[in-house]
Order: sequence, then C-alpha cells, then structure tokens
Amino acid sequence: MTRCPMTPGSSHTTHDSADRVAFDRVALERVAFERAVNDAGHPPQPDATTTLWQRFSVPYAFPVSFTRDLFAADNEMLLATLERHEPAGRPGQHGRQRLLMFIDAGVVAGMPTLLGRIAAWCAQRADRLEPVAAPLVVQAGEAIKNDWAALDPMHRAIHEHAIDRHSWVVAIGGGALLDAAGLVAATAHRGVRHVRVPTTVLSQNDSGVGVKNGINHYGQKNWLGTFAPPDAVINDSAFLTCLPERDRRAGMAEAVKVALIRDAGFFAWLEEHVTALAAFDAEAVAVSIRRCAVLHMHQIGTAGDPFERGSARPLDFGHWAAHRLETLSGHALRHGEAVAIGVALDTRCSVLQGLLPPGEDARVVRLLQALGFTLWHHALDRRDAAGGHLLCSGLEDFRIHLGGELTITLLERIGRGVEVHELPDSTVLAAIDWLRGCTA
Ligand SMILES: NC(=O)c1ccc[n+]([C@@H]2O[C@H](COP(=O)([O-])OP(=O)(O)OC[C@H]3O[C@@H](n4cnc5c(N)ncnc54)[C@H](O)[C@@H]3O)[C@@H](O)[C@H]2O)c1
Ligand SMILES: [Zn+2]
Repeated sequence: MTRCPMTPGSSHTTHDSADRVAFDRVALERVAFERAVNDAGHPPQPDATTTLWQRFSVPYAFPVSFTRDLFAADNEMLLATLERHEPAGRPGQHGRQRLLMFIDAGVVAGMPTLLGRIAAWCAQRADRLEPVAAPLVVQAGEAIKNDWAALDPMHRAIHEHAIDRHSWVVAIGGGALLDAAGLVAATAHRGVRHVRVPTTVLSQNDSGVGVKNGINHYGQKNWLGTFAPPDAVINDSAFLTCLPERDRRAGMAEAVKVALIRDAGFFAWLEEHVTALAAFDAEAVAVSIRRCAVLHMHQIGTAGDPFERGSARPLDFGHWAAHRLETLSGHALRHGEAVAIGVALDTRCSVLQGLLPPGEDARVVRLLQALGFTLWHHALDRRDAAGGHLLCSGLEDFRIHLGGELTITLLERIGRGVEVHELPDSTVLAAIDWLRGCTA
C-alpha cells in the first residue's frame, strides 16, 4: 500500500528523505516554471508521469466548558464562547454574533420555561447578539436520525435566515439531536460555526465532546455522517434535572465502557459509588460525567487518530454489538442501554478468548446491574430465515464499516483494552448464553 507520508503511523525510516523530496517537488516545480519563463521565455516541458504531494495540516482546538444554568440572567458563558472565537477579540464581521438555535423538543417539554428564559437572556445582550429567529424546536430522539428528511427543516432554517460561515448554529439536546444538527452544520455551506450544548448524561460524557456526527441510513447506525469537530461544547448540569431516569441511567454505560478500557481507578470509583449513581445523586453523577468526558477527550486528542482513519476503535468497546442491537430492537433500546449489553458481552468474550481473568466478567455485570441496567433483550436471540444469527452478522457489518481487517477492542484487564482481529461466532454465542444465565 502506498501511504501518504502524513498518515499517522507512516514509517520513519529511509523513506523520510524520499518523502521530503516528494513534498518539496511542489515548491521546486513552482520555482522552475518561473525561472524557465524568465530565462528561456517559455515554461519547461512537464514530465509525462509524476506525482506531486499536497500537504497541509489544520490544527483543531475547541473549548469544552462546564456550567450550571446557561441561560441564567448573569451567565455569560455562551456569549463569551462566541466572542472568544473571533481572532484577537475582534467582533464578528456582522458586529454582533448572529445565531440560530436548534432545541430538542424533549428538553423544551422537560423545561417549559426554557424558551422564555432564552428570549430574555438574548434580549439582555441585544447589543452583542443577534438571534436570527426564534429557536427551532425539533422532535428528536433516535427518530430524527432515522429520517434524512427530518434534517431539512434545520438546513432550510440556515438557508432562510442567512446563517453564513461567520454565524453560529447552537444545538441544544441529546446525542441524537446533536448528531443530526452536527451533520446539518457540517454540510450547510460546507460547514458553519457550531456550538453543542448536550442535555443528556450520554451526550455530556461522550458524544457531545467528540468529533463525529451522523444519522442512520440503509438500516445501519451512523451510516451517513462526517468527522467535524464543533467550535465549542458547553455542558450545563441544569439540563439533567429534567432528564427522565431512563436516560440518566443510559449514559452511565459509556462511563463503565471508558473505565474498562482506560482507567481501572475510575472503574473502582464507579463500583464504590454505585449506590449514589443508581440513585442519580447529583454530585456523583457530575464526577462521573467529568471523568468520562475527560477520558474521551484524552483518547481523541492524544491517541493519534481523531478521525478514525485506522481500523482501531478503542472508544467503541462493546459497540459492534450495541449498534446492531439498537437496529435489531427497532431502536426500542436506547444507545446507552445497548452499550451496557454490548459491554457485558464483550467482557465475557474477553474471558472466553483467554485474555481477561475469569470472574472479572461477573464483576462488570454486577456493576451494570447495580446501576439498574437490564442486560438482556430478545434481539440477542434473533435469527434470519436461513437460521443465521443476526447479532453475529453484525460483526461482518462492523468489518465492512472499518474496511479490511476486523479490529475489535476486548479487555486484557480491567482498565486496559486490547485490539484483536478475530472473534469467532462460537465465542459470541457462548457469551450470549452466559449473559442469559446472569439475567435469568
Ligand atoms: N457522535 C458520537 O460520537 C456519538 C457517540 C455516542 C453516541 N452517539 C449517539 O447518541 C445518541 C444517543 O444519545 P442520547 O443517549 O443523548 O439519547 P437521545 O438524544 O435519543 O435522547 C433521549 C431522549 O431524551 C430527550 N431529552 C434530551 N435531553 C433531555 C432533557 N434534558 N430533559 C428531558 N428530555 C431530554 C430526547 O428528546 C429523547 O427523547 C445515539 O444516536 C448514539 O448513536 C453519538
Ligand atoms: Zn456509545
């Protein structure tokens, strides 16, 4: 395979000097053209066959802020975030920050005063802020990701209110709304400025601080989407007060996931505080969200592959099964609920493959169950007309999604993930049987 020398993981051997020459050819050729025209009066004859390498890098940096009650009269975080974005504190080219908000209808239902408070908050800052329209309230949840047409009102609002590349889209909602709005913001004008305000545990501790967006298509999770980091993320703990219990719990599966692959100390902390977490104690939930968000940020920012060009997906521990289960259950399972099952399955697979000491699987199941997760869904048993096991065929979908070699994260101990390239169906089926036994 020929590799672009900028690709992470490219070799740093004798190829380096050859790569440098290849890159320099653009500069050499540019100068040679000018010289030849000056000296000889005509350009040089181009080589019939050659390769010029284009090269540039774009640094990404965005703030992930934490606050309480973003639209309280004295809370300046959102405006400060928009204004900080301008080079050297210059006001935007419009003078005031123009913005359009998309808000999850679930949040509006849970917080009936929200729209009024947003209007008052914006009015107080009318000299520096220009909301181009009233917030667009969007029916969200997974349904918004299952219908390409559901994106149209957001695209249309950006168009009709002339949101340009110096204006802002502010999306307030759960992971599904943020995934959909992120795709809208990334594709309108090839990308408009975008602030995410996650309102669920899962979106505050995982999806909202990430760099991906997307919707489901052709019956597959996140088939259509882009890697497009937001310009800022603001986690407001007040939004969690109106979140239904089911969704408060669902997000905790991602905390267990990231603890298992990266942080044994955090896993032990989760075990120690499981009673408080299961009772949604605000302080314990806040600690777990912060730690989980930081671990995700660390992985994305430092592991060398933020846009997932390689095959490893360490943050997707338990997710090959989770994504398949979400689809097989007709999205009756929340993402986090499916992740809890996927994590339990892949932990058992780790034991069955001889990677993780026996007994650690039961420990993980105990924690998930104590948090309140149901670790069984009848979709785990579904087969197609030919008798093929539908969850197992999710492995093949995952391989196709990765392209090339199957790469799955399993555990070699609690707090340490390991990449494997094989997971026999027989192991998956045995893990399902084991989970059935745990939940009977
Ligand atoms: N882009 C990524 O990197 C990434 C990572 C993980 C998960 N995800 C995606 O995130 C989605 C799941 O997100 P989620 O768990 O936040 O669920 P969700 O967005 O589906 O929200 C669940 C429900 O809660 C409602 N809601 C949201 N905030 C509320 C609030 N504060 N008060 C009351 N109701 C509220 C929503 O309207 C919805 O009905 C999945 O589609 C998953 O694939 C994306
Ligand atoms: Zn997830």
